[in-house]
Amino acid sequence: MIIYFNTDFKLLKDVSLSPFDRGFLFADGVYESIRTYHKKLFRYEDHLERLKRSLKETKINFTDLASIENIIYELMIKNEIDDEALVYIQITRGSAFPRTHSFPKEKISPTIFISVQELKESIEQQTNGVKVILREDVRWLRCDIKSTSLLPVVLASQKATEENAAEAILVRDGMITEGTHTNFFAVKHETLYSAPKSKLILEGITRKVVLELCDIFKIDYREEFIEKDDLKSFDEFFITSTTKEITPVTSIDYWTINEGNPGKITKSLQSLFKKIVEDY
Ligand code: PDD
Repeated sequence: MIIYFNTDFKLLKDVSLSPFDRGFLFADGVYESIRTYHKKLFRYEDHLERLKRSLKETKINFTDLASIENIIYELMIKNEIDDEALVYIQITRGSAFPRTHSFPKEKISPTIFISVQELKESIEQQTNGVKVILREDVRWLRCDIKSTSLLPVVLASQKATEENAAEAILVRDGMITEGTHTNFFAVKHETLYSAPKSKLILEGITRKVVLELCDIFKIDYREEFIEKDDLKSFDEFFITSTTKEITPVTSIDYWTINEGNPGKITKSLQSLFKKIVEDY
């Protein structure tokens, strides 16, 4: 596997990272996951904007963003990716000794790592739907930043795996925020509900596309928090992300929704989404 690391393309086995890298010591870094359709990066400008914002909010001074797109396409060629690709980009504040919590006094260069791999499509999950579990949202209060500081969601996601669920949906103060790595949607009386853009959720690019589809096809939606105790008053649910696209949720904890069948609005949004990516 060939990756991009700092200034060069390298064989993975030839890469070494300083243990004093602040990404390793403090999870002092940000990341993006992007996918391709027809080998073209999907909504690259949106991902780049979000990356820029994450860097700005964390005060990580990485300036060479313009070259990333070409590096990714180059990596696809070098790794002979024949199908669709999943791209991972991580930028940390860089490496400095001695270890200090505040930013190092001397100027350091951020560490950048980019990988591409063949994407495994989750067709079965998108057709039949998935089980999710509810977990307390114990993350920090800047979930709008795509930070690599992911331990709370690693633990929640592991719990989901142990319970044979595809995702853990997070609940803060009785309100549903989002999944560990997905946005969450609910439908009631043909109106879509999604948590509002705020510091409590990541503004997913797939979420944005779904809301654009609602605007175009006149599907009513509200950006409002849903209360956990009110979940049973909704008709259907789904989660969205770059890799899961629109995935129906057919059970939440021990509650099977609509006899385990994906909902009507969910299915129509899935087919509208499919059209967009087919023509991409
Ligand atoms: N996760 N919410 C969180 C907390 C996420 O980590 C993600 C993405 C999303 C969905 O965002 P998007 O539609 O832009 O993929 C929502 C990526 C896939 C990851 O962690 O790799």
